[in-house]
Amino acid sequence: MIPMSKLLIAGLIYAVLPAWAQSDAEALVASKRSADMSYQELMQILGRSLTGLQDGVLLQNGELVRQAANAILHHPAPSHKPWAIVLEAERDGFKQALLTYDKVLDLETKAILAAAETKDWLNAAESLGRLQQACISCHLQWRTKARF
Ligand code: HEC
Repeated sequence: MIPMSKLLIAGLIYAVLPAWAQSDAEALVASKRSADMSYQELMQILGRSLTGLQDGVLLQNGELVRQAANAILHHPAPSHKPWAIVLEAERDGFKQALLTYDKVLDLETKAILAAAETKDWLNAAESLGRLQQACISCHLQWRTKARF
């Protein structure tokens, strides 16, 4: 039997977590400069930046890595709320995905940058692989849910 206290804690987590993601996703988006573009156009910038990172690591071009990493680390927010692209019922989930993946994108991009600065290209490539996995995981989960 599951003790009552555990049930209570689980209940609390489920009640509080969506509200937490709600305000934190708002804060995350508010912390970025708002640019005159859609979420899809922001993704096109990320796509180009990923290509820049791939080329930079492949060709051991540190400046190319720096420029592409910069575009990812300091990307602006779209002119609309990102979660406006999914159905109302999916918005809390998408907010949590934004929070989670934003951290991973930052972490791996910084790792690529640091490795490139010391010309540790194999480590840069490993972080690049993890960065790509994060892009792809989110796409598997969310890309077909984008409606606008
Ligand atoms: C939080 C989830 C999420 C993460 C993380 C994410 N994407 Fe996306 N991406 C999406 C969604 C949702 C779409 C579909 C947008 C649409 O069609 O309006 C998309 C679409 C795209 C597109 C297609 C744009 C077009 O013109 O249709 C590209 C390219 C892209 N993403 C690149 C990337 C790259 C590169 C990364 C990683 C550095 C990344 N994305 C990380 C959610 C994400």
